[in-house]
Amino acid sequence: DLYNFRLIGADTKVHGVIGNPIGHSKIPHLYNAAFRSINFNGIYLPLLVDNVANFIDTYNSPDFVGYSYTIPHDDAGIKCCDEIDPNAKEIGAISCMIRNPADGKLKGYNMDYLGAIAAIEEGLQALNGSSNGSGSPLAGKLFVVIGAGGAGKALAYGGKQKGARVVVANRTYDKAKALANKVGGEAITLAELENFHPEEGMVLANTTPVGMKPRIDQTPLSKNALKNYSLVFDAIHTPKWTRLLQEAQESGAAVVSGTEMFLNQAFVQVEKFSGSPAPKQLIRDVLARNA
Ligand code: ATR
Repeated sequence: DLYNFRLIGADTKVHGVIGNPIGHSKIPHLYNAAFRSINFNGIYLPLLVDNVANFIDTYNSPDFVGYSYTIPHDDAGIKCCDEIDPNAKEIGAISCMIRNPADGKLKGYNMDYLGAIAAIEEGLQALNGSSNGSGSPLAGKLFVVIGAGGAGKALAYGGKQKGARVVVANRTYDKAKALANKVGGEAITLAELENFHPEEGMVLANTTPVGMKPRIDQTPLSKNALKNYSLVFDAIHTPKWTRLLQEAQESGAAVVSGTEMFLNQAFVQVEKFSGSPAPKQLIRDVLARNA
C-alpha cells in the first residue's frame, strides 16, 4: 500500500529522501500517497545513505530523478549538484534535487524556505480574512527572524523576497549583522529583542532550537516581549506546541507551528517532483494518520 507496487513499471520514476537515520521518516508515506492520488508514475523511497557523492554517482540513471535531503546530509547534497537554483545559491543550502530529463543534469533547489514562508503567508491570510490582492501579506511588514543559522538565513531571505522589512535577532550579534547585511535588514541581539516594540502587527519567526524537545520549558523570547506581534511562527515541530507558541497565543497573536512548515514543504516538493498541483488535504490527512 505504501509503495503503490501495482503501479511500478519500466517508466516509473524513482525518488527518495536521503538521510541517516531515515527509517522513521514520514515523508515516504506522504509522497507515495500524493503521487498515487494525482496519477503520477513515481515512487518515493527512504534512502539510508552515508556517502552522498558515491550514491549520486552510482545511480546516475535517467530513472532516478528526484531526491530530498535530511539530517545529516543537508550540506552534502549541494556539492553534488550540476546546477543550483539562484534562490538556493543565495541561501547557500539545498533541500532537494531534480534531474532534468533533457540533459540528465541534477539541479538543486531550496524548498524549505518556500514551505516556511507559505505557512506564514497562509497564517496572515487567515488573520486578514482574505488575501490582499496579488501581493504577499508579508509585504511591508516588520518581520523579525530569531536565529542566524541555516534556517534563519532561509527565513530572512524569504521574507526579503516577499517585501518584508527584515530584522535578524541572534544571540551572537556578529552573525545577525552578517545575515542582515546580506538581506538588507536590521540586526539586533536576542537580549535587545526583549525591548524591541517599534510598532504593532509585527511578525516573528523562531529558527533556533530553543524550546525543542526535551527542553520544552524554554523559550527564545519572554511572554512580555510578545505583545506587538500579530503572528508568531516556530520552525520547531517537536513539540508541535512550543512554549513560545503557547505564550504568543495567550498574548493574542495568531500562531503557526513547524508542522505547517513541514506540510507546506511537502506541497511544494510534490509539485516540483510531479509537475502537478499537490493534493493538499490528502497530504494533511496522511500526516495526521501517521503522526
Ligand atoms: P539551523 O541550521 O537549524 O538554523 P544552526 O545553523 O546550528 O542551525 O543555527 C542555530 C541558531 O540557533 C543560531 O543562530 C544560534 O545562535 P548563535 O549564532 O548565537 O550560536 C541559535 N541558538 C542555538 N542555541 C541557542 C540558545 N540556547 N539560545 C539562543 N540562540 C541559540
